[in-house]
Order: sequence, then C-alpha cells, then structure tokens
Amino acid sequence: MAYRHFEFIEKHAWTLGILTAIMVSLGGLAEITPLFMEANTVQPAEGVMPYSTLRLAGRDVYVREGCYLCHSQMIRALRFETQRYGHYSTASESVYDRPFQWGSKRTGPDLARVGGKYSDDWQLLHLLNPRQVEPQSNMPGYPWLAKATIDGKDMQARMRVLRMLGDPYTDADIAAAPKDVAGKTEMDALIAYLQGLGIDNEPKVKVANKAPATDGGAQ
Ligand code: HEC
Repeated sequence: MAYRHFEFIEKHAWTLGILTAIMVSLGGLAEITPLFMEANTVQPAEGVMPYSTLRLAGRDVYVREGCYLCHSQMIRALRFETQRYGHYSTASESVYDRPFQWGSKRTGPDLARVGGKYSDDWQLLHLLNPRQVEPQSNMPGYPWLAKATIDGKDMQARMRVLRMLGDPYTDADIAAAPKDVAGKTEMDALIAYLQGLGIDNEPKVKVANKAPATDGGAQ
C-alpha cells in the first residue's frame, strides 16, 4: 500500500516537486527559526552602553564614507585572528550597532579592537592622508571631515529613532546631545568612534598572547 503511494509520487514530477519543496521549506524553517529567536534574546555584554553622541556621529560618518567596504569589525574565533587583533567578537557587544559593521571585506585590517592602538594625533594624520604614516597604504584620505561640523539637532533626531528601536537613551542624554557635539568636527567624531572600538565594548575576558601591533597590512 505505502509502496504504491511512493510509486505514484515518483512517477508524477509535479507532485514530487511540490512535496520536495514542502519538505525543504520545513527543514529550512527548523534551521532558521531558532536563529531569529536567538537574535531577540542577545543581551548587551556587561559594560556595553549605547554610543555617546559624539561617537554616534562618528559611527554615522564611518557608515556614510563606506569604511566598511575595506574594514571588517569582526574578529573570528581562530587563533591567528585573536593573536593579531584581540578577543574574538561576540554578538552581545554589538547590540547597539544599527546596522552592525561586522563586514567581511578586509582590504585593510580588522578594526573591531583598534581603539587605543594609536594616538588621536596618529589617527588624525592617517585620516587626512594615510601615506603620511603608512607610505604603502592604498587607503583614501578624508581631509574634508576636518572641516565638516555636526548638527546637534540632527543628532537628537537620530537618538530618538534609536530609542524607538530599543536603545536606552534617556531624555537627559538627548537633551545634552547638542552640547556634546558643539564645536566638534566630523573628524573629531570619527576619531572618538575609532578610539572606543573594543575599549567601550570589549568582552571582559582577555585572550592571552595578544601579539604586538604589526604592520597594519590586510589579512
Ligand atoms: C580602499 C580601502 C580602504 C578604505 C575605503 C578605508 N581604509 Fe582604512 N585602511 C586601509 C588599508 C589598506 C589600511 C592599512 C594601511 C594603513 O594603515 O593605511 C588601512 C588602515 C586603517 C587603520 C589602521 C588600522 C591598524 O590596525 O593599523 C584605520 C584606523 C583605518 N584604516 C580607518 C579607516 C576609516 C575610519 C575609514 C573610512 C573613513 C577607512 N579606513 C577607509 C584601506 C581602506
């Protein structure tokens, strides 16, 4: 009896196709659904706070200028990665990143933990013209950022949207936003953003054997 059912299915291509599609969809759902649930349950790691106004402005410059096209911010849990860049990246440290900047393209090095690796002055020179500090660099310069100012009202609007999405900005944070970015340039903001990467949100357990800073080439 059962055998004849199979024979029917196997001899009717459309029936076979439709039943196969149903089974594949069920399998796919079984694999994907838990991931969606998990995404909603990821909690911020200890000490991870939403971006300060200045760093938020810097992060938006980072996205606008397409830095992610050459730089990832995701250290994989592989020994040669953690030795070069530090603790591997975790989901709980990027809960306030919208959109997340993990990326995968590494024309330049990963930046997930670049905060504090160089001085602010180095970052400034490098962003004005990378070849001043890395003669072989093919990274473009971004000199205009040093002249672009930040609109405090606009930052307040962005923070309100992020609050709607769940970031715990308080009324006081939003009220103070224009003061936080007053007189700052987009360059200041970008540098503040970079200098906090991996400092403000790095998992507390450190990986031993972090290698000293290397040449900065891509990997
Ligand atoms: C065309 C690809 C490219 C783009 C776009 C790019 N970079 Fe780079 N970046 C590189 C390369 C290559 C290096 C390594 C050489 C050097 O230090 O200049 C680098 C190095 C860096 C470093 C030093 C990292 C380290 O650990 O030594 C920082 C910080 C950095 N980039 C930030 C940025 C920011 C911020 C932007 C966007 C405003 C950006 N980059 C855009 C290619 C790029």
